[in-house]
Amino acid sequence: MTQDELKALVGRAALDHVVLGSVVGVGTGSTVNHFIDALATIKDRIAGAVSSSVKSTERLQAHGITVLDASTVERLPVYIDGADEIDGRGNMIKGGGAALTREKIVADLAERFVCIVDASKRVEVLGAYPLPVEVIPMAAAQVARRFAKAFGGRAELRTGVVTDNGNQILDVHGLRITDPLGVEVEVNQWPGVVTVGIFARHRARICLMGSAQGVSTLMF
Ligand code: A5P
Repeated sequence: MTQDELKALVGRAALDHVVLGSVVGVGTGSTVNHFIDALATIKDRIAGAVSSSVKSTERLQAHGITVLDASTVERLPVYIDGADEIDGRGNMIKGGGAALTREKIVADLAERFVCIVDASKRVEVLGAYPLPVEVIPMAAAQVARRFAKAFGGRAELRTGVVTDNGNQILDVHGLRITDPLGVEVEVNQWPGVVTVGIFARHRARICLMGSAQGVSTLMF
């Protein structure tokens, strides 16, 4: 199976985790696009969606799925999203699609995070994938220097990308993140950092992982 077929497989499998009659939290990315297409088949049995990006909102609406503003929703039973890396405890790196801030906001509304990935995303230690960090533009160089000093990481500005919130993305190379929660908490305090793409406080509780053998369900 191709990587895209594996993404489609887990996108469909995620339907089993949708709580019928409720509002669904929806992430961003190519795996989630498959989930959105699958969600369209049960759109009359859900109360709508809260979306984590303009792109996902457009896709949901094109399917006729009602998109609710996150500020009107107090709690979601489930948030379904992909990841760039996931470790054996459900900690993730996210933000390859630059939607990390809204993803964390919607994940925070949810009782559980269901992560959908193909098996290439499973790692022992986070950090081989460059860590995305959304920054206020005037702080980009300052945050980059701080990464080098604090963790020895090499931060590169993602050129030509402006987030849905009007900010920039730094991709930090050369990290080996053995304490995801500690790094998340530390970096989030740096002036100018909007969101760091480590999801440890909002780690996955369930991961649906697609491989040639089918979909495995990992619980954390
Ligand atoms: C979007 O900002 C990301 O967090 C995505 O969830 C992540 O990059 C996974 O994307 P794919 O499903 O396209 O691999």
